[in-house]
Amino acid sequence: MTILAIETSCDETSAAVVRDGKILSNAVSSQVELHAEYGGVVPELAAREHLKNLLPVTQTALDAAKISAGELDAVAATQGPGLPMALLVGFRAAQAVAFALRKPFVGIHHHEAHLYSPWISGNPPVVDFSKFQPNVSLIVSGGHTILVLVESELKHRVLGSTIDDAAGECFDKTGKMMGLAYPAGPEIDRLAEQGNPRAYHFPRPMLNDRNDDFSFSGLKTSVRYFLRDHPEVLQDRRALCDLCASVQEAIVEVLEAKTFRAAKRLGVRCITASGGVMCNSRLRERFELACQLEGMTLRLAEKSLCTDNAAMIGILAERKQAQKVPVAALDEDIKPGWVLA
Ligand code: KG4
Ligand code: ZN
Repeated sequence: MTILAIETSCDETSAAVVRDGKILSNAVSSQVELHAEYGGVVPELAAREHLKNLLPVTQTALDAAKISAGELDAVAATQGPGLPMALLVGFRAAQAVAFALRKPFVGIHHHEAHLYSPWISGNPPVVDFSKFQPNVSLIVSGGHTILVLVESELKHRVLGSTIDDAAGECFDKTGKMMGLAYPAGPEIDRLAEQGNPRAYHFPRPMLNDRNDDFSFSGLKTSVRYFLRDHPEVLQDRRALCDLCASVQEAIVEVLEAKTFRAAKRLGVRCITASGGVMCNSRLRERFELACQLEGMTLRLAEKSLCTDNAAMIGILAERKQAQKVPVAALDEDIKPGWVLA
């Protein structure tokens, strides 16, 4: 089965071609520079940029895969959640292509697709997911921080999520206070490499709460107060690196502790993780160490597949088509393939 997939839920315009569980192409055009001067994603600008980029990106994906439109068996797109105007651009374009080709259209839930991104890369990519189920999966990005129990393929249960800011938002907003450009996550990661994570202490919100939810707004506020009281830190590169390392450690420690605690409580021996923040080197390192220590299996999405991309949409669409999962009617709200705990 050959599927063209499109993703436009936020600030990446992406098109991919997948066939029989393999990624033939995955073209991504990032709008990060466009939004940087505003310090965050501007929804209207994102939608206009998708309109401009979607056809060239789709053509690039088809060319790179050496596939013509006539060879496609289905067309998939992110149906939600995301920025409504941005979603509409990719979703409607994909529906139109499916309509013109008289092929099925598959609407995909964005978070559910992230769950599958740890499996689709690697050498070789995992084809039989069932060996690694159940698993506890962390989806962590600028827009979401969600802990999910994957019971079996296409059957998931949300264990917890952030009650305020997402972890990536915390990286970006604390970085902005430090004068770093948007998105600050990657820059904090780089500066933190030369810093001492124990130089300054910041709260680990909800670390000891008896639930699987997260909260990052209090940590953000404590960084604001810290900088109000110690503005000199921003003038000294060494102190700035220490600050980055200390903030990063607080975020990473909460993500790691709550993910592994949930897995242990549920008797689950496999951890997976995805989303833009999972590019963070300290977070990857701590997940690797914790899995070694606990004797658990770890599967992290490849960095290029952590951030938003159409390949994960295509792979999930293919599994859904293969298993004849009914897809949402064209204008129906997308339903995630999971239930709230
Ligand atoms: O998944 P993504 O591309 O978009 C959504 O938010 O859906 O994630 C972007 C987020 C941003 O908040 C960015 O700062 C963060 O991922 N990020 C990182 C790193 N790379 C990207 N955060 C920490 N360390 C990184 N290396
Ligand atoms: Zn995402």
